[in-house]
Amino acid sequence: MNYQWYPGHMMKAKRMMQENIKLVDLVIELLDARIPVSSRNPDIDELGKNKSRLILLNKSDLADGRCNKEWIDYFKQKGYSVLEVNSKTGAGIKAIQPAVREVCREKMERDRKKGIVNRPVRAIVAGIPNVGKSTFINSYAGKACTKTGNKPGVTKGKQWIRLSKELELLDTPGILWPKFENQDVGRKLAFIGSMNDEIMQMTELAIDLTACLVVHYRKELLERYQVPEETEAPLQILEHICNNRKCCKKGGEVDYEKGAAILLDDFRSGRIGRITLERPDESFINDQI
Ligand code: G4P
Repeated sequence: MNYQWYPGHMMKAKRMMQENIKLVDLVIELLDARIPVSSRNPDIDELGKNKSRLILLNKSDLADGRCNKEWIDYFKQKGYSVLEVNSKTGAGIKAIQPAVREVCREKMERDRKKGIVNRPVRAIVAGIPNVGKSTFINSYAGKACTKTGNKPGVTKGKQWIRLSKELELLDTPGILWPKFENQDVGRKLAFIGSMNDEIMQMTELAIDLTACLVVHYRKELLERYQVPEETEAPLQILEHICNNRKCCKKGGEVDYEKGAAILLDDFRSGRIGRITLERPDESFINDQI
């Protein structure tokens, strides 16, 4: 299967991002905690090189708790400020304000020395599609926020959400394009549902996902669908899943596609368990982060 993102979309996203990033002091970068490498576009380092930075591992509720901690340590070692959040419930959101203050301290200090007071830090939320940007903005801004509207002569056409005296958020998130360095990245984005399922071959995708899950989450996978312990081949495991979920066609033939859809849906909504597909100890990440 060939995974891709249309070059036209990519160019547009890049242009928008280059334009919007000029308006802010801080980039809040969202990653999917289940695939922190594949859901990250490393170009953000270049785009945001003079900006304060904060990384959020979003959807941390769906990811393996132990791996979340390992990834936080990993990014910290690389010099990033990083937090885990669940934008759907708001868990972890409270820790953001102090972290923002910390990462922007130098800038605030500089402003103060120049006699600039009461100028809020301006931030943009950025990430690849489906990582949870809109959900995060809603959760973070909550109901208390007020939209500040256009600032004459400064940010024509842009809407800012005033979160506090200290912080304003651009109300449209920055869209980063996925970085398909290799097919493995595309495959993982497809697993979590960040690619268009309609153009996917779901059965092939489910077999690939099964092959991934058996590495670290074999027990959880086999238990959920009562797959016999000795089953090894991913296709055979999928066949057991189909049988367990009564996925068969009229003549009694196994309906792999239906079973594949169930598996993918269960995985994406966390019903198989909290699962992380990338670990900081894997060698491939060194090239990418
Ligand atoms: P985007 O702006 O980056 O494109 O992403 P968006 O906020 O639209 O979120 C994409 C999906 O991810 C949504 O699900 C959203 O509810 C879900 N989501 C966002 N943050 C979290 C999180 O921290 N944890 C979990 N579990 N889910 C999260 P959806 O199925 O498309 O919509 P809905 O059915 O939830 O409304």
